[in-house]
Amino acid sequence: MGSREEPKDVAEVVSRMGDIIMARTFKHSTCEELAAHSRVPVINALSDLEHPCQILADLLTMQEVKGKLEGLNVVFLGDGNNNVTHTLCLAAGMLGMHFKVGAPEGYFMDSNIVSRAKKMATESGGSITESSDPNEVVKDADVVITDTWISMGDEAEKEQRLTIFPPYQVSEDIMKLAKNDAIFMHCLPAYRDKEVAAAVLDGPQSVAYQEAENRLHAQKGLIAWLMNLDTQI
Ligand code: NVA
Repeated sequence: MGSREEPKDVAEVVSRMGDIIMARTFKHSTCEELAAHSRVPVINALSDLEHPCQILADLLTMQEVKGKLEGLNVVFLGDGNNNVTHTLCLAAGMLGMHFKVGAPEGYFMDSNIVSRAKKMATESGGSITESSDPNEVVKDADVVITDTWISMGDEAEKEQRLTIFPPYQVSEDIMKLAKNDAIFMHCLPAYRDKEVAAAVLDGPQSVAYQEAENRLHAQKGLIAWLMNLDTQI
């Protein structure tokens, strides 16, 4: 899509055939173009800028385990300029969470996303912080999250990234700086002993599999909401 066939044409055709389009597009602008020309709702199933379905599942998991969202200290360590980080940032702004990112200089979040989130945070009581000190940001975390250091599109920078990111690994020592009852989350697939120590991902604080299961439940909820379904799901 975008080389052989215009997103506009795909949107026009497919939206005559289905009730919803769910698109994993790479370029965020392709998703926006589909939405602009579709007769039916378009769900972003992952773009280079945002990953909203993942974050719906993450929020459901935080709500289930922590019993609330507002006021939670949510910390992301690793690649700040990442679809998962960006959508967590927007969610924190909307829902009054305190979102802190620990990332190397040059790998902070997209500045437009940060300003949108900060604007929402002034209403919700949330906050957004970025720092290159992983030990500082993780203090008092309720939730510690990471994602791969090499997202789609970053493959050519793999060697460079593998030398820059290790201080931001979610290690057992890092988890000791968070609250005692902090949970660890990861959207999967994970690289054990890269962005997260195997002992953390496979350890008692990890809720990564509950989070993965919640992709199903959150997306069922999303479909019901988009279709105005007044049914049990
Ligand atoms: N940030 C990752 C998410 C994978 C589900 C990527 O874009 O590759």
